[in-house]
Amino acid sequence: MLKTIGVLTSGGDAPGMNAAIRAVVRTGCESGMRVMGIRRGYRGLLDGDMFEMNLRSVSDIIHRGGTMLYSARCPEFADPEMVQKAVDVCHEFGLEGIVTIGGDGTFRGARDLTLRGIQCIGLPGTIDNDIASCDYTIGYDTALNTIMEMVDRIRDTTESHDRCSVVEVMGRNAGYLALNAGIAVGATCILIPEVDYDIDSYIIERMRRTQKTGKQHFIIIVAEGVRGIDSKSLARYIQEKTGVESRATVLGHVQRGGSPSVRDRVLASQMGHYAVELLKQDIGNRVVVNHKDQIVDYDIIEALNMKKTIDLELYRVANDISI
Ligand code: F6P
Repeated sequence: MLKTIGVLTSGGDAPGMNAAIRAVVRTGCESGMRVMGIRRGYRGLLDGDMFEMNLRSVSDIIHRGGTMLYSARCPEFADPEMVQKAVDVCHEFGLEGIVTIGGDGTFRGARDLTLRGIQCIGLPGTIDNDIASCDYTIGYDTALNTIMEMVDRIRDTTESHDRCSVVEVMGRNAGYLALNAGIAVGATCILIPEVDYDIDSYIIERMRRTQKTGKQHFIIIVAEGVRGIDSKSLARYIQEKTGVESRATVLGHVQRGGSPSVRDRVLASQMGHYAVELLKQDIGNRVVVNHKDQIVDYDIIEALNMKKTIDLELYRVANDISI
């Protein structure tokens, strides 16, 4: 069994990261390990910014969004010299393994450290759900619920004024948030990066057709990753073409915060516990993910090479029923 392990969160924060940290710390401490909390992801690791945690260090965090360990993006970690520097820091602090929580960039850092002898386990923490090996990432469910609540509010005012609201949601280069939130809010149109569009035939004609059936207000969800479309210009174009007064809302970072949902808390707790169970058996270089409602682990390199495609059947359903 490893004697000293660390835990860090890296990349964009996601609701549920705290629940994962709590599970790692509690499982580690209860197994007799020394657990170090590393602040600000790989940046903090390079700076040796870490502290010893105990059972009580993670009290009262399960319901909080964000990450008590703070997070940072650390592009310089792609440099092998930086990775070696981090390995030296690990040796200095006696760290033999690290649970790294974040997205694909975080997993690449974990892979590089493992190749140099530090046993790393990656946990998927991102609201984008864009990790190929994983069905549901930590934070995705909460972000979906946040988007749904926000757009429900936007719908109230959109309906009152017979308007069209174009709502831009996060997701980086992927449309998972847009597609699933779009269905949940009954959006007339959903634009995702995985599908090509002709704005006139998809949005304008669809709006005109539904207007004829008596529909007077419209919600259009746009994923931020859709190239060549900005939500403000799209709202202007819709107004020009249809005569329906239109407004654009970019939801922004509100989607990343807030108290994690039940699903994210449970998922994060299971994954954090599972990660330490692997380290207890001296197993590293794995990612812990959920697949078909089971928590499983894969080799990090294999996981990074996996591909995931969006459910186009779900997209078809969304379009069929939002008329
Ligand atoms: O990966 C999470 C995410 O919120 C993306 O949806 C978004 O594109 C990006 O991070 C925003 O990053 P930042 O907070 O660094 O602007």
